[in-house]
Order: sequence, then structure tokens, then C-alpha cells
Amino acid sequence: MKKNILCIGAGYVGGPTMAMIALKCPDRRITVVDINAARIAAWNSSELPIYEPGLDEVVAQCRGRNLFFSTDVEKGIVESDIIFVSVNTPTKTFGRGAGCAADLQYWEQTARQIRRCAKSDKIVVEKSTLPVRTATAMTRILSAERTEVHFEVLSNPEFLAEGTAIEDLRHPDRVLVGGGDTPEGRAAVAELVDIYAAWVPRERILTTNVWSSELSKLTANAFLAQRVSSINAISELCEATGADVDEVSRAIGMDSRIGPKFIKAGVGFGGSCFKKDILNLVYLCETYGLTQAAAYWRGVVAFNDHQQERFVSRILRAMFNTVAGKRVALFGFAFKADTGDTRESPAIAIARMLCEERASVVVTDPKALPAVARDLADCADRVTVEPDPYKAAEGADCIAVTTDWKVFRDLDYDRIYASMRKPAFLFDGRNLLDREALFKTGFNVYSVGRSPLTHLD
Ligand code: NAD
Ligand code: UGA
Repeated sequence: MKKNILCIGAGYVGGPTMAMIALKCPDRRITVVDINAARIAAWNSSELPIYEPGLDEVVAQCRGRNLFFSTDVEKGIVESDIIFVSVNTPTKTFGRGAGCAADLQYWEQTARQIRRCAKSDKIVVEKSTLPVRTATAMTRILSAERTEVHFEVLSNPEFLAEGTAIEDLRHPDRVLVGGGDTPEGRAAVAELVDIYAAWVPRERILTTNVWSSELSKLTANAFLAQRVSSINAISELCEATGADVDEVSRAIGMDSRIGPKFIKAGVGFGGSCFKKDILNLVYLCETYGLTQAAAYWRGVVAFNDHQQERFVSRILRAMFNTVAGKRVALFGFAFKADTGDTRESPAIAIARMLCEERASVVVTDPKALPAVARDLADCADRVTVEPDPYKAAEGADCIAVTTDWKVFRDLDYDRIYASMRKPAFLFDGRNLLDREALFKTGFNVYSVGRSPLTHLD
């Protein structure tokens, strides 16, 4: 009999990851639980709580067969042998380490609940991104008071990116499993490896000690974000010198030591994890007294904030130093294409800065509009939403592209230009559009890291 799997936390990671395991391991029973009843109800409906290309099909194949969603966390713990913990670990907003350290309260509540409810031995798998050495704390919590039940803690961080989660899960670059170097630890690692081996080639499944696994996750995100900040820093220099950042990216990306990915300049990185995980790394460095290492990584986040600010400064400068009373059409609210997720989306900060300048901001996005009222509640009087990009641009003084949705590339910009106030400006924060064509249409075009194309001299 194959062991039952439970996942605590039915979010962007727990839901898709468990759906993929259910798809590839039809002989295993997998339950995903969450305290958020609305989220579980959505997982059990035809309107899944997250938008992710390909996810609907995978869930449709497995749900009710060997994949179940429930709010009964206790029952789930009792009936399972392997428990993935995939709860949120946001940046702490209070007390020591506020604004930097990871807030581990949800994670600790889960550990305590597992200890309270478990009646048999469990393998507990850290799926959430956690500070290095968290597994020690987890083991301590799990082994406090009781001795008859054995808990073996593993680290198995997730590397999927939103928008491509299903593809990433289907063909991961690697799966990382960290475990203890004891007979029980090695046996637990083998159990987890066995699950992934159902579809991931063995040579792509790495096993390490727990600390290396925990730290590798933070390091991977820090490196990816650092590449984005590095190219964005070059984009600023390109704007000052007349170089073209996309040409520079292409040139350096062909160096096999650098590679072509994560060197696309833009409005800065967003998403729930890059900023949070780097700040977590900064906090860890500070905790160990490594002030220079902390400052190095903090710089990656600081530059990201700067990139967003300077995108707005450029809009202001180009539009005669004022956007007060002007209509700005914001093309994109999600933090990247192919997701409805807006956590830490650059569009939020950019919209807020434009509102502070008293612009009237019209937001259009194929998937993320439901989040606008919540994310921009503090400037609601200046913000409207419009699902149709053509209508959003009607009467606007400028368009600011803040998300790289393909649909924005395929619009009829002649028609859009004709409906806008003149002079019409287009600020392409993702270098998504054909700027020469837009310029010919009549737009004054400002892409990131390139000289502007304007009719205003
Ligand atoms: P999320 O906020 O979408 O989901 C977390 C879920 O956990 C929520 O639905 C919440 O209700 C639930 N939860 C919290 N406490 C609970 C409890 N005590 N019992 C039951 N459920 C509880 O978060 P996410 O984006 O899925 O991220 C989860 C973890 O995975 C984080 O540590 C994150 O850093 C990491 N991660 C995220 C991504 C990503 O692309 N979003 C990728 C890799 C790793
Ligand atoms: C990122 C990592 O890519 C995943 O491996 C990791 O699992 C995940 O964080 C996590 O831990 O949460 P995600 O944030 O979903 O995934 O999306 P990315 O594709 O990494 O994009 C992050 C941000 O960087 C987006 O705002 C994107 O537009 C921006 N970006 C990315 C650029 O500006 N330029 C690039 O070249 C690449």
C-alpha cells in the first residue's frame, strides 16, 4: 500500500504541486487542506482559486480520483503518512526583524497542529520557503512532549514560477530533497525521492543535507533577482548613453557562462517571493554578523525600488513635468504575464506614485483586475478598472505597459492612437511592443534602457 500524502496550504504552490503529484502517481491518495474555506471551495469548483495555464486540465483529471481538497486539517493529519507543509511565510511586519525576517507564525501553528493530531509516524516535508535551520525548530516542536510518534523532517523547496507552474512541475530543472544523515533520515529521503521519480529523471533529483536544501532555495531566488537588478542597473546607463539594453542583453546572454534567461530589463521584479526571500537572506546574514553580505543583497532590493521610481520619473519628465489631471492607461496589473497574482507587482507601486502626482489611472489586465480595489484601496478615488484595453486608452494622455501580457502586443495601436489625447505617449516598461512601429503611428515612445523615439523636438 502506497503511503497517503497530505499537503497543508492550498495556495499557489500547494495546489499545483499536489495536482502534479496526483497526476503522475495515480496509485497515491493526496489530500490538500487549508483553513481558508473559500479557497478550498474554489479548488472544488470549476473556477479554481488561481489562474495558471494548464492547471484546470490537470485538476480535472485527478480531482475526486486521487486528489481531494478539504478544510478538515485534523482528519488529514491523522490519515496521512507524508505531510507537505506549504503555508505562507511572508515578511514579518512587527517586532524584531520587522520588514526583513520571515514571519513563521503560520508555519509554527502547522507544526504544533501536526504534533497534536498525529497518531502514527510521519514524514514532514518543508515545502514552504524557510530560513536556513528552520528544520531544527520544526523537529524540536514536533518532538516536544511526545515520544511515541516519530517525525522525520525533510526540506523539499519548490522552484516553480507562476505562469509556467505546470510546465515547471512537469519538467523541473531539478528536485531538491534535504534530509538527515541517520537511518530514519535516509529512509525518509528515499520515500520522497520515490514519489518524484515517477516522472522526474533520477539524475535531476538532488539529495543534500537539510541546511543546504533550505539555503539553496533562498540562494536561487536571490541569484535570479540579482540578475534582474543587474540588467536594470545597466538599463539606466543605457538610457544615459544611447546604448540599447535589449541589444546588450542579447550580446551578454550568448555567453554560455551568463546565459539568456533573467536578463530582461523592465519595471523591476515583483511577485510574492523575490523581495521577501532576499530580505530573509539579509536578515540571516545580519543575524550571523555578516554586515557586508547583508548590504550586498539589500542592494538588489534597493535597486528594484529605484527602477520603479525612475520609471515614473521618466513619465513625469517626458510629459512636461506633470501628470496632474491626465489620464494614464496602465496596461497590466499582474506581476508578470499569465498569472492573476499581483503580490508585490511593480504596477501597484507605479500606480500609487502616479496617483500621488494626481493622475487619473485606468487599469486594464486580462486576469488581475479583481485585485485592483484591494491593492490600491488607499488611492481608490483616482483609480478605475477597464477590462477592454481599447476603452482604457480612450482619451488617455499616455499608456504605461507594466505587465508583459501577449495580448497587449497584439492590439491595433493605430486605432488606440487615434482615440488618445495628443501628444500621445507610450511608456513600455517591459520592452514588449514594436517601438519603431508605434513611433511611426505617432506615439512618443519610451522603452526601458533605450533612447526615446519622440516627435517633440
Ligand atoms: P499562498 O498564500 O498562496 O498559500 C498559502 C496557504 O496556506 C493559504 O491558502 C493559507 O490559508 C494556508 N495556511 C496558512 N496557515 C495555515 C494553517 N495553519 N493550516 C492550513 N492552511 C494554512 O502561498 P504560496 O504562494 O503558495 O507560497 C507558499 C510557500 O511556498 C511560501 O513559503 C513561498 O515562499 C513558497 N513558494 C512560493 C512560490 C510561488 O510561486 N508562489 C514558489 C516557490 C515557493
Ligand atoms: C520566482 C522564481 O523564478 C521561481 O523559481 C521561484 O520558485 C519563485 O520565484 C518563488 O520562490 O516564489 P515567480 O516570482 O513566480 O518565480 O516569477 P519569475 O518568472 O521569477 O518572475 C519574477 C519577477 O521578475 C516578475 O515580475 C518578472 O516580470 C520579473 N523578471 C523576470 C524580469 O523583470 N526580467 C527577467 O528577465 C525575468
